[in-house]
Amino acid sequence: MTKMEKIEPNHVAIIMDGNGRWAQQRGKPRLFGHHAGVKRVREIVECCPDYGVKYLTIFAFSTENWKRTQAEVAGLMRLFRRYIEREARALLEDGVRVRFIGDRIKLDEKLVALMDNLELLTAGNDKVHLTIALNYGGRDEVTRAAKRLAYEVEQGRLSHNDVDAETLSGFLDTHVLPDPDLVIRTSGEARISNFLLWQSAYAEYEFTPILWPDFCADDFGEIVSSYGSRERRFGAVIA
Ligand code: IPE
Ligand code: IPE
Ligand code: MG
Repeated sequence: MTKMEKIEPNHVAIIMDGNGRWAQQRGKPRLFGHHAGVKRVREIVECCPDYGVKYLTIFAFSTENWKRTQAEVAGLMRLFRRYIEREARALLEDGVRVRFIGDRIKLDEKLVALMDNLELLTAGNDKVHLTIALNYGGRDEVTRAAKRLAYEVEQGRLSHNDVDAETLSGFLDTHVLPDPDLVIRTSGEARISNFLLWQSAYAEYEFTPILWPDFCADDFGEIVSSYGSRERRFGAVIA
């Protein structure tokens, strides 16, 4: 690769944070911020091809977010249902393939049915691969994977001697996805909050103070473009 060649991240993951503070700054309830946040999603998904981003993974609801008030959780779940109902057609027409990661067991049936349908509906698309992390936690995902792996060993279908990193990766929710190259978190918090722990082992991180409902395509483009000047070493020494 020559020095002049532009390097674009194939897979960008985003921790969409700051909806509550955005609403608070306007004297509005937290759900007002979540509504504004959802509106940003389409803009970011649509601009991915402009920056060579093939995979976009967004953190919508964590396994820890159940600790919020019942009203906020219910409001968010309603918002997710409405997002799928309203955006399905546009996603299909825009060539977006949608997948969901996270544990569906705690989600309500209606929402899970909508998620399943959207995955099926868009299964033939290949322009942008959008993965939505819903009731997702990195530790929970690895734990569920380990449990299924242990079951395979117990059933005699797998030997413990054959278990390596690739085997475990194959049991994760993300088994069909490449690892993220770049993880962005909005709202100024510099932590990963249980997001893609295994998969981000060698990801570059970018923390921006912009609150998610203000995060626009230009902000995304700026961060993605600056990724090109980073030198990723993967533990090796680059001459
Ligand atoms: C992120 O915004 C959205 C979810 C976690 C669902 P927050 O709701 O965490 O917003 P802040 O961090 O309180 O501002
Ligand atoms: C992470 O944000 C989860 C999502 C963006 C869905 P949080 O706001 O829940 O994370 P903490 O509580 O600040 O670590
Ligand atoms: Mg937050």
